[in-house]
Amino acid sequence: NSLRRFIRWAPKAELHVHVEGTLEPEMMMRFAERNGIPPPYPSVQAARAAYNFTDLEHFLQIFYAGCAVLRTRDDFYELAMAYFRRAATSRVIHAEVSFDPQTHLSNGVEFDTFMGGLVDAAMDAEEQWAITVSYIMCFRRDMPLESAEVALRLALPWRHRIVAVGLDSSELRRPPRDFASLFDRAAALGFKRTAHVGEEGSPEYIWQALQLLHVDRLDHGTHCLDDPRLMAALNASRVPLTICPISDLQLKVYDGQLQERLGQLIHSGLMVTVNSDAAAYFGSYLAGNYEWLSTAVGLDVRQAARLVANGFQAAFSLPEGQRRRM
Ligand code: ADE
Ligand code: ZN
Repeated sequence: NSLRRFIRWAPKAELHVHVEGTLEPEMMMRFAERNGIPPPYPSVQAARAAYNFTDLEHFLQIFYAGCAVLRTRDDFYELAMAYFRRAATSRVIHAEVSFDPQTHLSNGVEFDTFMGGLVDAAMDAEEQWAITVSYIMCFRRDMPLESAEVALRLALPWRHRIVAVGLDSSELRRPPRDFASLFDRAAALGFKRTAHVGEEGSPEYIWQALQLLHVDRLDHGTHCLDDPRLMAALNASRVPLTICPISDLQLKVYDGQLQERLGQLIHSGLMVTVNSDAAAYFGSYLAGNYEWLSTAVGLDVRQAARLVANGFQAAFSLPEGQRRRM
């Protein structure tokens, strides 16, 4: 039908995708083998069978176990290239891709190793597929603040390719306020700011991200629905939300009420964008998220086009892109 055709063919931007979350089980097994690391699962089928999540916390355990196979510059290069190839095929022409430096540093991988692979992939993808790419460096909320500070320092030589800092991992009991001075420092260094908040957590965390971290975007943010005053503030400020419908579905964020809640959000007039989050674990890339959402909340082509346009409007960096290889 015409909506499906539109979604497939419209040039799209993706603003919330974790490169580590695009690690398909086949690639995970291959990297484990060539790096001499025991694979997290005995087979590709066993991996897929394990991707049946009870909540965010359960997903994160499985996600970080997968990250352990990523060791070499080639691993990061191939991982990112596979995502860009797929993205280009489904007409994603601009991607702002998150990565978790603390995960790799704590696995003993040097910053320049993973960053080198990611940046080479961005350069090659831009050349081969006319996609534009920038990176978002996410701090992990569940790790010591000092390790985030180390990551920020190591990122400085790569600033031309890292457009923003973010905040991810476990949300509950880890208030954004703990990261306020780190985010101030990042802003002073010229990074934009975003944070995963209101995914499982309450509107209070969204307020903190806005008022204490001074974020330019919110990742997820769907729990703003629980606070009418926050909804009004977001509507007035036009701060974008990068929602990830199939991620919420797979992480059982709203139980049986997800369709209804996302419907309210989409029709609320907030600046909402659609994204895939950790596509290899949730079984669906960007176009699949648009399709599922369209059916779930009953979008027509005009409404879908608005969401696609929001993706470009909410982008941190657009085409001019810097092209420098380290
Ligand atoms: N890291 C990767 N995906 C994430 C998510 N959905 N929430 C928090 N941290 C993440
Ligand atoms: Zn995410």
